[in-house]
Amino acid sequence: MNAHIEAELEGLWKGLASSYEAKTPRSKELFERARAVLPGGTNYHIRFYKPYPAFISRAKGPLVWDVDGNPYDDYWMGHGVHVLGHAPDFVLEKVREVASRGTHLGYPHELLVEYAELLTKVLPGVEMVRFCNSGTESVMYALRLARAFTGLDKVVKMEGGWHGAYDGLHVGVAPPYDVPESLGLPREAISNTVVVPYNDLGALEEVLKGGDVAAVIVEPVMGAAGCIGPEPGYLKGLRDLVDEHGALLIFDEVITGFRLAPGGAQEYFGVKADLVVLGKAVGGGFPGAGAIAGPSEVLELLDHIKRPDPRERSAHGGTFTGNPITLAAGYALVRHLSSHRGLYERFNALWDRVRRELNALSDELGLPCHATGEGSMVGFHLTTERPKDHRTAVGARWSMKAYEVLHLSLRLKGILYMTEQNAHFFPSMAHGEGQARKLVEAIGETLFEMASLGSVKAWLARSS
Ligand SMILES: Cc1ncc(COP(=O)(O)O)c(C=O)c1O
Repeated sequence: MNAHIEAELEGLWKGLASSYEAKTPRSKELFERARAVLPGGTNYHIRFYKPYPAFISRAKGPLVWDVDGNPYDDYWMGHGVHVLGHAPDFVLEKVREVASRGTHLGYPHELLVEYAELLTKVLPGVEMVRFCNSGTESVMYALRLARAFTGLDKVVKMEGGWHGAYDGLHVGVAPPYDVPESLGLPREAISNTVVVPYNDLGALEEVLKGGDVAAVIVEPVMGAAGCIGPEPGYLKGLRDLVDEHGALLIFDEVITGFRLAPGGAQEYFGVKADLVVLGKAVGGGFPGAGAIAGPSEVLELLDHIKRPDPRERSAHGGTFTGNPITLAAGYALVRHLSSHRGLYERFNALWDRVRRELNALSDELGLPCHATGEGSMVGFHLTTERPKDHRTAVGARWSMKAYEVLHLSLRLKGILYMTEQNAHFFPSMAHGEGQARKLVEAIGETLFEMASLGSVKAWLARSS
């Protein structure tokens, strides 16, 4: 990292921050109050950005409005949940209808069967489903199932892979990748977790050779790591290696599910997993979104009728699991998406084009940056090389401050995304050509400003 560049970018950032403060006084006031009663002033640290986050009061389609009335094109979309945009009317209608008959029944109900049946038709290789309350919870149950099925304890995850903060997988998220990611997390909790780089079949094979791995869990396209996709043949190679060594392959489709294709990454890449973990969109934009799905052979380990002794089966349950509100929203959304497959062609093509246009900006300005991802998962990296895994996405950054300048500059241009340290965009099908053009232009203008700084020019001249 070049100190002159960081200092000049800091100056640029400060000027932008004054404009932001002038535009968002009510958010500032709310953040000050929040600091006193919510640790860090938010309910989730990734929702914070400097100097304080815009507090959002309303969302519809591709837009959110902050409490000061400023509109933004939203590229966070509720953590990537809203594939069809915020609050689609037909989903709200279905939820209103179902909620009027009871918000949480705590008994089996018809929608549970209908939604599970729908998922078995939409998701490749899926014969049975259990609904959970979140992505994190679904991951936890999926690992338990894989261990129950194989009788083995070890699991493999990828460097930079984010599967929620569940103890056993809360390691290997950020460098150095081999220590617990949190205080209060004993080493023993991660002692059965092995971390390997994404897009590296050789490293995975070394671990699998031990013959003691229950499951390999992977985001088919890494999300929180910066929307980094698989190199050609990687997922197929994973499949083959896992088969060869008798483990289960778990696709964490919490982001990719219903985003890349109705059948998620399995359909998009044509590679099947043994277990699929769902979250986010599976709840149709409502909380309590999660599911584990797969072949009966594996899911039947949850069957209390076939396995009356609790110690002979794998445990799953929970008060709000399969609640009618989340299921109504999820069912309405997934039925719509799976019966309008053509939507995905336009959706994926538009954001493929945006990636190409963003990469062209780098060439035009001579400033190193790389757009990554697949379909509507768009990562943007200010790195000297194109990231193929989390290690390069983090290690090859030419500036940290540049990420913050980009975030603040786009905010002032009416564009919000996450995160301030790692630019990734989750557009929805409600985002149109106009929004895509505005995003590319806004990034282009900001990069131009950065490339015009004396320190950046000097660095570029030296490195050319
Ligand atoms: C790939 C992936 N898996 C799991 C999770 C955890 O899901 P949740 O936040 O619903 O617990 C996330 C959340 O962002 C995710 O991106």
